[in-house]
Amino acid sequence: MINLKNLSADRVAQFPDHFGKYQEPWEGFPHILKTQQFSREMIERLIFEDTMKTLFHWKNRSLISYLRDGRVGVVTYFFEPSTRTRMSFERAVQSLGASVIHTESGAVFSSSAKGETLADTVRVVSGVGAGIGYGDLLIIRHPQDYAVEEAAKFSRTPVINAGDGKHQHPTQAFLDLATIYLRYGKIDGLSIALVGDIQFSRTIRSLCYLLSKFDDVKIYLVSPEEISIKEDIKEHLTEKNVWFREEADLNSVLPHIDVAYFTRLQAERFRDQEELCQQLKKKIPLYSLTEKNLDLVPQQAIVTHPLPIGDNEIVEKIKTDPRIWAFIQSDIGVATRMALINRIFKELGKLNMHQNFKELVFSGLGWK
Ligand code: NCD
Repeated sequence: MINLKNLSADRVAQFPDHFGKYQEPWEGFPHILKTQQFSREMIERLIFEDTMKTLFHWKNRSLISYLRDGRVGVVTYFFEPSTRTRMSFERAVQSLGASVIHTESGAVFSSSAKGETLADTVRVVSGVGAGIGYGDLLIIRHPQDYAVEEAAKFSRTPVINAGDGKHQHPTQAFLDLATIYLRYGKIDGLSIALVGDIQFSRTIRSLCYLLSKFDDVKIYLVSPEEISIKEDIKEHLTEKNVWFREEADLNSVLPHIDVAYFTRLQAERFRDQEELCQQLKKKIPLYSLTEKNLDLVPQQAIVTHPLPIGDNEIVEKIKTDPRIWAFIQSDIGVATRMALINRIFKELGKLNMHQNFKELVFSGLGWK
């Protein structure tokens, strides 16, 4: 392990890769970029313990925040539309006692519109802590696959992927799992249908990697053929011996599930294929939950959706049915994100990295 105290100012100049090279609670710590970073043990700690405790302590006003020194600032930098993800992250940060600065429509309102590269923006907005610089944590959403992973290479602070193109949305998958865990108290042995645009949905991709860590999980992949799950996910599930079946007929699957996870058609991901998009839109009713097929969903089962509902995948009339957990799921997003962020700062504190970082930077800059 590298002793931070003995590092020279020259070494400090190579800051960008420092994070993640020390003792890691998870691979690639302190960033959260994709769900493959997490072992089953760590998923259980983050969901079964941290998120559940956060829900409990928040309700009882007894939550200990590791961001509450009044100086921690978080940057949310969003290049794609968002309601829940940005707001729940910002609410989570504020609930932990830190402040937030944000760019909501990065492509228009940030210097990206003037040609600044994402790398340069990240170099600027990833601060060095203690209010020096801009942010002590960056939360980024970007339309390009892998852009956030790339951005993290230039960051001096932890980076969280809030959705990168059609690649991943790890914190959504954590909150999806937290929702399922809240309902069943376990993940092992559950049957889960992933329904709709499971090819372009980044939340589905992230969730598959998490589910594959659990035992005896059955995954039904229900979609029109044109937007069926990608080969890499199938290969991963096969490699991990996860039971899965591709199915075109939603109604034949519904009676067998504990969780039905609906998604919307990600039309913005294939704007150049207008004809295909129109064809698929016509098929959406076959991959939707209505008054008619709700009866097929077992009484103890839950229906989830990362939201937004785009084309009535869950029709208005049934949204108050007790099996529809999509809106509860969205509430759980705040606590899950609080738990994840708090854990990052707790672990950083344990490693004393923030303090050492500050000392290094200040001495590197000639400040005492
Ligand atoms: C999802 C996303 O952005 O990938 N939304 C969300 O974060 N809750 C799902 C979607 O947009 O369909």
